[in-house]
Amino acid sequence: MIAYASRNWRAIVCSIVVVGVVTLGFALSQAPLAVAQSDDAKKAPAAAEPAPPEGQTYVGTKRCAACHFDQFLKWKKTKHSQAFDVLTAKYQADAKCLKCHTTGYGEATGFKDKAKTPDLLAVSCENCHGPGSKHEEVAKTFSAVKKLSPEQDKAVRDTIWKMLPQNVCVTCHMVQGHHESQTPPELRKK
Ligand code: HEC
Ligand code: HEC
Ligand code: HEC
Ligand code: HEC
Repeated sequence: MIAYASRNWRAIVCSIVVVGVVTLGFALSQAPLAVAQSDDAKKAPAAAEPAPPEGQTYVGTKRCAACHFDQFLKWKKTKHSQAFDVLTAKYQADAKCLKCHTTGYGEATGFKDKAKTPDLLAVSCENCHGPGSKHEEVAKTFSAVKKLSPEQDKAVRDTIWKMLPQNVCVTCHMVQGHHESQTPPELRKK
């Protein structure tokens, strides 16, 4: 009985270790890959792409989703969409955390607080594409058009970055993101 139980234990511990190693290996193999791919994705259009009009304001994920529902659903499944939820109430009002865990914090039309700017929570569309009010405005003028002509398509695309030209990932992910402010111990992943 005891021998049987201890053998079972060994099997359980073994499989936990195996699962742990496999998961860790997968996470490690995926994380740098994601960054490398988007670096490549970014270089080409940054050179070819004209800068969008200046002075755009943040409109928030809900209004982007109105026209880009597929992208919205994809984003919803990423950790970026959870970046505000991982902060507890205390840190959801801490300026030290918000520039990397919300959208446009510190800018005139960016994140203020959860009640005032509910569509700018977390790392969202406009963190990577830049603020999009004029993009929305121009796109709306074609809302009655079923299929955009190449000229119309270009006119709309030229109003927003396919990806901001600066290395936007690094602004938050440098030294694993917590160079300036360490993750408080009680919030760290076990
Ligand atoms: C009124 C509809 C509408 C809204 C609102 C809208 N878009 Fe677009 N967007 C378009 C259209 C149309 C295109 C052209 C390509 C296409 O048909 O998908 C486009 C293209 C894009 C592109 C590709 C740019 C390129 O250079 O290829 C990005 C990125 C984008 N939108 C992001 C956003 C973001 C972020 C928001 C919210 C701030 C947003 N859009 C809001 C209609 C819209
Ligand atoms: C310079 C940008 C930056 C700042 C400032 C920042 N974070 Fe983060 N935070 C990140 C990034 C990037 C990640 C994702 C790390 C990863 O998965 O590699 C993250 C992840 C987290 C996580 C998920 C668990 C973990 O450790 O991975 C928590 C919780 C967290 N941060 C809390 C905070 C709190 C609380 C503050 C303020 C005291 C803060 N962060 C400030 C960028 C930042
Ligand atoms: C972490 C950064 C990031 C976030 C957050 C993000 N995107 Fe993107 N998005 C990208 C990158 C990178 C590409 C690919 C650019 C390329 O192909 O060169 C892209 C491409 C797009 C395109 C162009 C697709 C095409 O086929 O032309 C649209 C539209 C778009 N995103 C909309 C959104 C919307 C809407 C949201 C929010 C719900 C969002 N993105 C959130 C980084 C991001
Ligand atoms: C505004 C800050 C910000 C920007 C810009 C940003 N990230 Fe993040 N990223 C975060 C935070 C915060 C988290 C952690 C969210 C959580 O744990 O819920 C995260 C999580 C991630 C994760 C998930 C890590 C894991 O543990 O699974 C990946 C991968 C990632 N980011 C890649 C990128 C890439 C690639 C870009 C650029 C295209 C980018 N990020 C841009 C803040 C940012």
